[in-house]
Amino acid sequence: MFAKKETGATRILPTHVAVIMDGNGRWAKKRHLPRTAGHAAGSKNFKDITRYANKIGIKYFTVYAFSTENWKRPAEEVKNIMNILRDYLKDVDNFKDENISMQFIGDLTKLDDDIRELIANAEEKSKNATGMHLNIALNYGGRDEIVHAVKKIAEEKIPIEEIDEQTITDHLYTKGQPDPDFIIRPSGEYRLSNFLIWQSAYAEYWFSDILWPDFKPKHFEKALSSFAGRNRRFGGIK
Ligand code: FPP
Repeated sequence: MFAKKETGATRILPTHVAVIMDGNGRWAKKRHLPRTAGHAAGSKNFKDITRYANKIGIKYFTVYAFSTENWKRPAEEVKNIMNILRDYLKDVDNFKDENISMQFIGDLTKLDDDIRELIANAEEKSKNATGMHLNIALNYGGRDEIVHAVKKIAEEKIPIEEIDEQTITDHLYTKGQPDPDFIIRPSGEYRLSNFLIWQSAYAEYWFSDILWPDFKPKHFEKALSSFAGRNRRFGGIK
């Protein structure tokens, strides 16, 4: 995809960027702060980077906020992350001007009722926005998503000979969306951690040692420049 830079120049932008917001805990530890302060800083950065992505013309933006494995964390930390989410969702009217449509992906049935109501409200209020589409992955796991899709396919009794890759794609939480073409993971870890494992088959990756709360628009720009210089062959020859 080509998009206008603020300078007016044209550049190649990924259509769908996905981010693993990792490193909040280490960011806090470095400052002798509780982990909760790291998640608060991570949440603020999430809002800033989301706004920036929308401004420069990214069409789809997916963030990993809470994985199916994150329930293993101390109850206090889980509660804190859920409260950060509550605050964000209560503030959703303030994001109206940004023209971002919002969708939560993951198994939402495990969440508290009030959070589910806030999510439904945020999705409903933002559904007609014409700017960027934001997916927030919550109680999300890539394998869990595929199991969920397979169960739905079985439930719909789709004949075996009709099942192909598109059938799976069409039963994922991200149904109807282009696959992520660029996945960013800051914080010095080099793995996917069960994030969008079906959708990322041909994604490009960008890793860096920067901890998520320190990942600023200038780092995002550096990552985007790297993406723009890559030769994507999708298994063919170009
Ligand atoms: C990973 O860092 C971060 C999380 C598991 C939580 C991410 C949550 C937020 C940024 C806040 C909520 C988001 C929204 C959408 C409002 P880590 O704790 O694993 O860091 P560490 O690896 O340094 O310990």
